[in-house]
Amino acid sequence: MKKRIGIVGGGQLGRMMGFSAKQLGFDVHVIDPTPQSPAGQVVDSQIVADFKDSTAIRKLARKSDYLTFEIELANAKILNQFAKSGVKVNPSAKTLSIIKDKFLQKTFLRKNRIPTAEFIKIDNEYEIETTAQKFGYPFLLKARFDAYDGRGNALIRNEKDIKNGVEKLKGRKLYVEKFVPFTKELSVVVARSINGDIAIYPLSETVHKNNICHTVAAPAPVSKKIKVKAEKLGKKVMRSLKGAGVFGIEMFLTNKGDVLINEIAPRVHNSGHYTIEACITSQFEQHIRAVTGLPLGKTDLTVPAAVMINILGERTGPAKLRGLDKVLRMPQVYVHVYGKMETKIDRKMGHITVLDKNIKEAYKKARLARKYISI
Ligand SMILES: Nc1ncnc2c1ncn2[C@@H]1O[C@H](COP(=O)(O)OP(=O)(O)O)[C@@H](O)[C@H]1O
Ligand SMILES: [Mg+2]
Repeated sequence: MKKRIGIVGGGQLGRMMGFSAKQLGFDVHVIDPTPQSPAGQVVDSQIVADFKDSTAIRKLARKSDYLTFEIELANAKILNQFAKSGVKVNPSAKTLSIIKDKFLQKTFLRKNRIPTAEFIKIDNEYEIETTAQKFGYPFLLKARFDAYDGRGNALIRNEKDIKNGVEKLKGRKLYVEKFVPFTKELSVVVARSINGDIAIYPLSETVHKNNICHTVAAPAPVSKKIKVKAEKLGKKVMRSLKGAGVFGIEMFLTNKGDVLINEIAPRVHNSGHYTIEACITSQFEQHIRAVTGLPLGKTDLTVPAAVMINILGERTGPAKLRGLDKVLRMPQVYVHVYGKMETKIDRKMGHITVLDKNIKEAYKKARLARKYISI
């Protein structure tokens, strides 16, 4: 019988994992609340249910030899029970439960002496004000749970912003983080196999707009010294966590040359999409290899430079792909459409990866390609 993989989450990450898993001959099943989800369209079956629905996850586990996830929203408690009953769950449910709470994650980093921005837990508005006196402005108010694409963050520039921030994040558990005046954001994708081998991808530079990942360039245009420092830190983070799989590690570089960890994602990552065309093994295939006990693949770049640019939604309504023919006339430009039926402002609808002889040329081409296309 073919080996079966269950994925909690059916978004674009699950879709790209699905392509890789199918290529290697696995049966693949996903859970996602949206019928015909991006992953559901390309795998063997989809259970239409919430990621936290314990009955649905149980159903998925019965269909799976290996269980993994593409989102932190996954229900760590239930995944943990399956791990005990013999289904191979990776990354480990323990790691998921540390990472999915940003405050616990930060505490974990601090305990492991991994540099990160100063932070403090807060329980009410009054504590935000006292923290403001301690940290000074600006700082970030962050939701502990279920935050992505900047939706759990509020930048507090002055006392007046506190009210708006609290309003934006109403009803959520919060913590405060000191603002890091970074010069660049960096990211490294790292994989660990079931036997503990670690494979690290080239350091990349990420550029965010409105808190959302906009472009990624690899290799990151930084000095050798910074590159070595960041990659060393990435490996240290990996060694301190449990479980197999691919992890995305987001970092800040300061003007003093310090590298701080921003956050860890216990899954394949937007900053690793470029690896599909630009590296020996894509992050998605690597994740499938890692969680199923196969040997990890090599992570080297096969080209001098790659730039990935996200295609974000520009309106609300049914998705409509335009300009594909124009972009496909450009050499070494690769378009990925996620198959989402509905678009929304800033929703991740697809991405473009451009390969070239250097980052500058790749950026130029990526910007042009992005102008031609919309979803
Ligand atoms: N402490 C900080 N100082 C400065 N900028 C920050 C800080 N935290 C977050 N940001 C900015 O907001 C972006 C999104 O924040 P992040 O905490 O990574 O949230 P998400 O989970 O939505 O990715 C970051 O990539 C960075 O650009
Ligand atoms: Mg982030």
